Amino acid sequence: MLAIEIKNLSKTYKKGGKLALKLINLQIKKGSFFGLLGPNGAGKSTIINILAGLVNKSSGMVNIAGINLDEDPQAAKFKIGIVPQELVLDPFFSVRETLEIYAGYFGIKKSQRRTDEIIEALGLKDKANAVPRSLSGGMRRRLLVAKALVHNPEILVLDEPTAGVDVELRNQLWDYVKKLNQAGTTILLTTHYLEEAEKLCDEIAVINHGQVIAHDHKENLMKLLSKKELVIETCEDVLEVDLPDFNLLTKNKISITYDPTKIAVENILQNLAAKNIHIKDIATNQPDLEQVFRYLVR
Ligand SMILES: Nc1ncnc2c1ncn2[C@@H]1O[C@H](COP(=O)(O)OP(=O)(O)O)[C@@H](O)[C@H]1O
Ligand SMILES: [Mg+2]
Repeated sequence: MLAIEIKNLSKTYKKGGKLALKLINLQIKKGSFFGLLGPNGAGKSTIINILAGLVNKSSGMVNIAGINLDEDPQAAKFKIGIVPQELVLDPFFSVRETLEIYAGYFGIKKSQRRTDEIIEALGLKDKANAVPRSLSGGMRRRLLVAKALVHNPEILVLDEPTAGVDVELRNQLWDYVKKLNQAGTTILLTTHYLEEAEKLCDEIAVINHGQVIAHDHKENLMKLLSKKELVIETCEDVLEVDLPDFNLLTKNKISITYDPTKIAVENILQNLAAKNIHIKDIATNQPDLEQVFRYLVR
C-alpha cells in the first residue's frame, strides 16, 4: 500500500518562470519514515506545498492515501497533516484556540477533539494559553506540529522542522514523531541535514534541481555515501590518472572520491607515483551533503 504516490510531477512557477520540479516520481509506502533530502532550492517545499494543496502543480499526478488530488482535494486533506517550513501562525489565537479552530475547520465534534492530548504530547501545556508572539521559535514549531495532528492524519509531513530548533526540543520532537510512526503514521520529512535523515528515516530520496537523483533504502544509500574524498595537491601538472571518480580541481589539485572499504589510499598514491607525480599536500574529507550531491549527479 502506498501512502503517497507521485507520478511525473512538474512545476513551473509563474513568477520567474522557474522549472522547480521536473518529472518527479516517488512512491512512499504506508507506514514508512521517508526522508526527502536535498540542498536549498532543490524543490522540497514545492513538493510538500503541492501535497498540501497550497501550490498548484503544472502537470503530473498525485495520490494521497489512494485519493487522487485532482479528483478529491478535500478528501485528500483529511488524510494528511502538514507542518510547513514557514512559521506562520495566526497572531490573535492562543495555542489552545489555534488547535480548537483547526479541529473545527476539519469538522471534528467537540467530544472527539484531542486538543488536550496533543497539547500534552507536544509539551505545550505551560503555553496552552499563550499567543504565538510570546512563544519561542521551537515552541511555535511544536504548535505547528500540533496543528497538523488535530485530525489524526494517516500521513504526517514535516518540512524542515528542525531549522532553528534547539537540540533538546529537536530530540523531543523526534521522540514523538518516532512514536507516531511506530503507531502506524507514515512520516515524510524533508531536511537538508544528511545526519538527520540518516538517523530517522528508513527510506530516503535525494532531490537536486527539481529532480530525483537517488531513491533507496537508507542502508543502501548510506553505503553510497560512505565514500571519502581525497584532495591531493601535486608538484607537477596532472594530465591524466587511471582512477575512477577523479576530478581535476585545478591543474595541480585533484579530488578523488573513493570507498575506503574497497580501495586503499596507498593504491591511489602509487598510481600517482607511477605517473611521476609528486605530492605537495594531501587531505581527506568525509563527504558532506554537497559532495554527496556532486557525486550523485556526476
Ligand atoms: N512562490 C515561488 N515563486 C517562484 N519561485 C519559487 C517559489 N517558491 C519556490 N520557488 C523556486 O523554486 C525552487 C525550489 O524551491 P523550494 O521548493 O522552496 O526548494 P527547497 O524547499 O528544496 O529549498 C527554487 O529555485 C525557488 O527559488
Ligand atoms: Mg524548503
